[in-house]
Amino acid sequence: MKTNITQTLVGEHRLILRMISLLERNACRTAEGSYSNWQFYLNGVEFIRTYADRFHHAKEEDVLFEALVKNGMPRENSPIAAMLMEHDQGRAYVGTMEAAVREALAGQDGREGIIAENALAYAELLREHIGKEDEILYPLAERVIPDIMRDSIIAGYTAAEAQTPADFTARYEAVVAGYENEV
Ligand SMILES: [Fe+2]
Ligand SMILES: [Fe+2]
Repeated sequence: MKTNITQTLVGEHRLILRMISLLERNACRTAEGSYSNWQFYLNGVEFIRTYADRFHHAKEEDVLFEALVKNGMPRENSPIAAMLMEHDQGRAYVGTMEAAVREALAGQDGREGIIAENALAYAELLREHIGKEDEILYPLAERVIPDIMRDSIIAGYTAAEAQTPADFTARYEAVVAGYENEV
């Protein structure tokens, strides 16, 4: 039985998708003027930067995608290049959303539209992005990456995890669950 090299990443997608659902729900309410818990958006930005980007995207970019390149996938004009571009596009939406949230927190009126727009744009982008990884890129990786490379890929993930505190995932699960229970 081959060592699975994408299951961990698929599991991380589940938690990221729960945050995306929260962004969709709350951004729609913000656009209508019925949700102004700006702290939610700041926690969302922190989740995306730390859990989705620094933790999950780093495993993809530094470990799995590198392994695909070593197995012949081109770096340019390839599915990897497209995934990297989408990671960057996501960072841009989140940056714009954060700036508007900070303005709202500082008392500036009328930031709801830009916050909701960027939260929803991020959610749509990442939902599609995760779909492509789960359904196309990860299954491809499971097919093409030889057994001999698999232990070092898992070791790469473990090394990335070792840089985070022991309660890292539990902490972000708690943040997501807390907002899921918010009425
Ligand atoms: Fe990705
Ligand atoms: Fe991913």
